[in-house]
Amino acid sequence: MNLDALRREPGTAPDFADRRRAEACAVMSSVAARAAIARHGTPLLLLDPQRVRTQYRRLREALPFVGFHYAVKALAHDAVLDVLDDAGCGFDIATGEELAMLTRRGVDVSRIIHTHPIKKPAEIADALAAGVRTFVVDNEVEIGKFRGAPADTRLLVRLAYRSPHAKSDLSSKFGVGPFEAAHLVESALAAGVTVAGFSYHVGSQLDDPGRFASAAADTLELMSILERRCNVQFDTLDIGGGFPASYDSESAAFDDIATLLRPVLAPHARRLDIIAEPGRVMVADAMTLVTSVVGIAERGDGRWYYLDDGLYGSYSNVLTEDVHPLVFAARDLTATDPWSGRLSAGARAGGHRWATLAGPTCDSSDVIAREVLLPELRVGDLLVSPTMGAYTTVTATRFNGRPFTAVAVVGRGGAGVAPDETRDLRRVPVV
Ligand SMILES: Cc1ncc(COP(=O)(O)O)c(C=O)c1O
Repeated sequence: MNLDALRREPGTAPDFADRRRAEACAVMSSVAARAAIARHGTPLLLLDPQRVRTQYRRLREALPFVGFHYAVKALAHDAVLDVLDDAGCGFDIATGEELAMLTRRGVDVSRIIHTHPIKKPAEIADALAAGVRTFVVDNEVEIGKFRGAPADTRLLVRLAYRSPHAKSDLSSKFGVGPFEAAHLVESALAAGVTVAGFSYHVGSQLDDPGRFASAAADTLELMSILERRCNVQFDTLDIGGGFPASYDSESAAFDDIATLLRPVLAPHARRLDIIAEPGRVMVADAMTLVTSVVGIAERGDGRWYYLDDGLYGSYSNVLTEDVHPLVFAARDLTATDPWSGRLSAGARAGGHRWATLAGPTCDSSDVIAREVLLPELRVGDLLVSPTMGAYTTVTATRFNGRPFTAVAVVGRGGAGVAPDETRDLRRVPVV
């Protein structure tokens, strides 16, 4: 029986913000979250690694013939790496540092691929010495770096697909078109290096399910043309990452993208090793940011609240990714129906006003969000942002001398779940 539906007001479905509010409410009412906040104060990121495991399972179920390699760059946290390693997921790295994080944890190197198209020669040598064998290239100079590499080294040529709808269109920096790709395959053959197949990244936070399918179809067609032309047999297709997360509105669900990808990829699943490198979609929902109001001012454009984290810290995703996580007042969460995510009539009647939310640094561009509807807040009041797992702490800076925001590993939110030791990604002492 769907009790959820019974509790809704007749004829109305919770909207996106209600659902996010209900989730934030569940996180904040957990014993683990409360204990972590009481112990460490704010700002604090609450990480639930089990959500990453669940998301990995969902991806596997939607595309069972795809080998997923988590893009470590999205959230390079030990608890995330452990849970994915345990679940059998592979890993996609961009640097020697990411490789070291994985090897330190005993991850099987045969499950690691190095997908940065430009690498220092020493980094390639270290990765080869560690046992990594799959690398991405998109130019002749890079191919030359693999002359004399072990015979089982396998290169993937990175293709560029323009994605004007992606928040971050990576094709302007990396990747080649079909003619250049043919030339690179021939160059690699001449250099005695194996090209195992192709990789691409359609752009990060791409809310266009059809683009994922058309890029896969175009790459498969190119592979078959080049197999004939160069008399080679490819065995790998890497469909990259880019799968979106829902920040301030519902974006395409992975299941919908998979529905379009399945008929394109499935006929090739026996012949090809089909792999993917998702980052954001694996971790975005697994972390929640809790901040405090540290200052309040009335300006020409209304009320401003200054928080203890901002664009130079965990909200770096607003700056670098152009995404807009929702921000809820913890006070509203306590007056929220946990089933529907709706605010109680009393809380609504209490009055809300539009406000600007700014970060703590001296920089005037450090503005997290404008026109956020919030109740009357006081210094010390808590604010909560869901969907803060991807490209937040990894892209944060120490501008103004501010420490990196600590990450507290918390459980699924059930009573009796004790918080782990807070583990700060950058090894900065906690509070
Ligand atoms: C080569 C490569 N693979 C995977 C990813 C992960 O992308 P996303 O987080 O959009 O899934 C990125 C992101 O920049 C990337 O550059």
